[in-house]
Amino acid sequence: MTRCVVGLFDSGVGGLTVAGRVFEKLPGLPILYFGDTAHVPYGNRSPEELVRYADGIISFLTGQGARYIIFACNTSSSLSLEIMRTRHALPMMGLIVPGAKAAVDATRSGRVGIIATQGTVKSGAYERAIRSLSPGTVVYSVPAPRLVPLVEAGQMDGPDTERALHEYLLPLREQGIDTLILGCTHYPFLRPAISRIFGPDVTLIDPAEATVEAARSDMFGRGLLPPGDGVQPCVHRYFVSADAPGFLHAARSFLGRQAEIDVREVCLPD
Ligand code: DGL
Repeated sequence: MTRCVVGLFDSGVGGLTVAGRVFEKLPGLPILYFGDTAHVPYGNRSPEELVRYADGIISFLTGQGARYIIFACNTSSSLSLEIMRTRHALPMMGLIVPGAKAAVDATRSGRVGIIATQGTVKSGAYERAIRSLSPGTVVYSVPAPRLVPLVEAGQMDGPDTERALHEYLLPLREQGIDTLILGCTHYPFLRPAISRIFGPDVTLIDPAEATVEAARSDMFGRGLLPPGDGVQPCVHRYFVSADAPGFLHAARSFLGRQAEIDVREVCLPD
């Protein structure tokens, strides 16, 4: 059985936090990663733009051999996943429903906070998913537009990052949440700084964990996973739409152990 190639995409380096979960939970499965660095940040793009970008990227990844797509971006999961399912035949998994379920399972007080991009917050996708699973859960959402540029610039701490995090998170702390969804795949890079603000009483949910778990069972159900015959070596490939050296630098520091990172710059029709 040939191994299923998994395609992942995001606006930039954030989706590497999802790729890391794939390496952990599905070792031996080759990935194709697309960072749409020509269009980062996605957070304030219109739904029409996000649909157009996702369409081009999924067609490209399919052409490169992807047989399964994991959306490694919450904004695209919120605003383009359902449309992509009607346009492309291959199976896809997004972050919202698994992330919402993980939060509903984790909360004891029924007060859940979300930080995410403006696009994700405005879409209401997490609120809808949480309410359909647990109508009594109260959800507080805060858009955090300054965080993605800080992460893309490698500023995981320092005064600007601390200031932005305090501004976004203190109102959530005042609402007495006990669970916080990191609703953008760039934010797990800020986890230590976020944990310092909330302390141990607030559970931080990285939706990537439940999403990759859900993708694994889905792939298994579809017969896309190889039989358990040990982990085979495999080659992962990375593509970006701009600034390959910048992405390579960031990817090396985030994925340290994945020293051999082959990044190619490709130009997709806009
Ligand atoms: N990392 C993406 C997300 O999860 C996109 C962030 C952005 O580019 O604004 O939403």
